[in-house]
Amino acid sequence: MCMYSAKEGMPTDWHLVHYGSRAIGGPGLLFTEMTCVAPDARITHGCTGLWNDEQEAAWRRIVEFVHAQSATKICLQLGHAGRKGATKLMWDGMDRPLEEGGWEVLSASPEPYFPDSQVPRETSRADMERVKAEFVTATERAARIGFDMLELHCAHGYLLASFISPLTNRRTDEYGGSLDNRLRFPLEVFEAMRDAWPREKPMSVRISATDWAEGGITGDHAVEVARAFAQAGVDLVDVSAGQTVREARPVYGRMFQLPFSDQIRNEAHVATMCVGNITTADQVNTILAAGRADLVALGRPHLVDPFFTMKAAAWYGAKTYCPPQYAPGQDQIMRNSVRDRADLDDLKVRGKPKTRAELKAEGEGRRLAAE
Ligand SMILES: Cc1cc2nc3c(=O)[nH]c(=O)nc-3n(C[C@H](O)[C@H](O)[C@H](O)COP(=O)(O)O)c2cc1C
Repeated sequence: MCMYSAKEGMPTDWHLVHYGSRAIGGPGLLFTEMTCVAPDARITHGCTGLWNDEQEAAWRRIVEFVHAQSATKICLQLGHAGRKGATKLMWDGMDRPLEEGGWEVLSASPEPYFPDSQVPRETSRADMERVKAEFVTATERAARIGFDMLELHCAHGYLLASFISPLTNRRTDEYGGSLDNRLRFPLEVFEAMRDAWPREKPMSVRISATDWAEGGITGDHAVEVARAFAQAGVDLVDVSAGQTVREARPVYGRMFQLPFSDQIRNEAHVATMCVGNITTADQVNTILAAGRADLVALGRPHLVDPFFTMKAAAWYGAKTYCPPQYAPGQDQIMRNSVRDRADLDDLKVRGKPKTRAELKAEGEGRRLAAE
């Protein structure tokens, strides 16, 4: 998740501590924030990048720490902000245009995100070649660093997503019009990256499975999008939603994006990862057992609890890898979880409403006692 804490695209000590502590907390797989392939591919001045040797060295330090100190695998998410670039840090105004110090932004079509956002330049064929080459170079750097997995960001209205949605793609060339045409550039980028990424390592793509807006992408379209990426060699579709246009009307709630993962997994027969307001281990296990996703990602819960996974595992009596420095803490939660579970079971039994038969039997008992 974007930390908006990089300097000139360089991950800092913040990132080492942030990713390092999440890895130690025991998740199977850790995703980086959207890391940008060029200075003008950034969302904000605080976004991480992977376009020079210094950034490569900084990411290597993080990846080596994760591999040395945890059993967690780490996936790099690469992206290009498109028309949502040159905007303010989250805490200064999400997606709001920079008043100064910005840069020219690109999109599938020259339409701004907010009415007062910068009007993006329509991506030319030459821009496409340059952007594709930037993604490939960043992929080569990621492979050298030793990331375990790579994700291409094609969601949330960023550059590649702007091609996929008919709400942001008004082109009349072979990159606009039908869904096949709108997918052409994102697939060209994906295929070029797949060629540069080690065959034995997985790749995923993040998509917005609905635009939550009239005339936009729906779950049915997302099934087609997933099929196209699967044919191009994607191993996992990371199913997000929305953030394409300002007029969207998302339907929020617990696990609100899960139906799209379910639809894609079971109609396109592609492995999916679901995400979005999933907050308990119980929900995670239910989703997996019901076959509605192959992986479950938790974003905000991890911001405030790096040890979510270790604690959830302990609750079920399972031991995740724990660095020896922290073993006494894990031993304690393993012991306490047994008692806490027994207490909860006891409470559930005591709190269970009585059946009609039980109430009737109780009533008869009282009547007999009174006689
Ligand atoms: C602060 C913040 C930063 C985020 N950064 C990214 C990002 O870099 N890449 C991305 O694909 N999604 C990003 N997201 C979206 C999350 O990945 C996730 O889809 C969303 O928060 C919903 O999941 P959750 O309820 O588990 O947090 C971000 C969300 C937040 C709140």
